[in-house]
Amino acid sequence: MTVDPRLTLAITGASGMPYALTLLGALLEREQEVLLLVSDAAREVLRLEMDFELPADSDAAAQAWRARCGSTKGILRVLGKHEWTAAPASGSGAPRRMVICPCSMGTLAAIAAGLSNNLIERAADVVLKEGHRLILLPREMPFSALHLNNMARLARLGATVMPPCPAFYQQPQSLQDLVDFVVDRVLAQLDLPGLLPGWGRDSPQHPTPA
Ligand SMILES: Cc1cc2nc3c(=O)[nH]c(=O)nc-3n(C[C@H](O)[C@H](O)[C@H](O)COP(=O)(O)O)c2cc1C
Repeated sequence: MTVDPRLTLAITGASGMPYALTLLGALLEREQEVLLLVSDAAREVLRLEMDFELPADSDAAAQAWRARCGSTKGILRVLGKHEWTAAPASGSGAPRRMVICPCSMGTLAAIAAGLSNNLIERAADVVLKEGHRLILLPREMPFSALHLNNMARLARLGATVMPPCPAFYQQPQSLQDLVDFVVDRVLAQLDLPGLLPGWGRDSPQHPTPA
């Protein structure tokens, strides 16, 4: 079977927009076709965290994303939240991989309850019902029992739940190093080339023999 180069990336209104931007750039650099969904709350958080005012028009938004993440590769399609005829809304047309980065507790709860009230929730519902790949990066601190229950529920349904928790054993020198660590783990889940050397293979502590 041919590998589907398409992937749905949803950005919701949790803190962590640098993760989203770095992930989008890495996916495009790896020649992926990204179907991008951005919630209204995410637009607000993008403005606050990145001084990034996302245009309302889809083509202009795609251009703005490319300018911000500095990639001219891959394919980027920006979809509206009520584009019910778009591929991710249908079991027969949806990409087999979906990442929600960052994932708000609101979107997490809506997916766990199967609400499908916007294209992000519907796309996640479709990926789950089809038994395809759903990767969530939920962000909140602390998590309530409700949040944890929703995560456990989705994990039991086959979703990969990976809160963005950077590690420090690579000795990060900058904020971008911490961001890269998280994005590297997401790329690994997608079987795509990562951003960092693999631990125990060619890390500074375990250099690859010359
Ligand atoms: C600056 C800012 C940061 C936020 N951070 C978080 C967060 O880390 N986690 C979270 O669940 N919600 C966070 N929120 C609240 C969500 O944006 C809000 O619950 C929203 O309804 C989520 O909608 P969405 O899931 O459609 O994106 C934040 C809001 C703002 C304005």
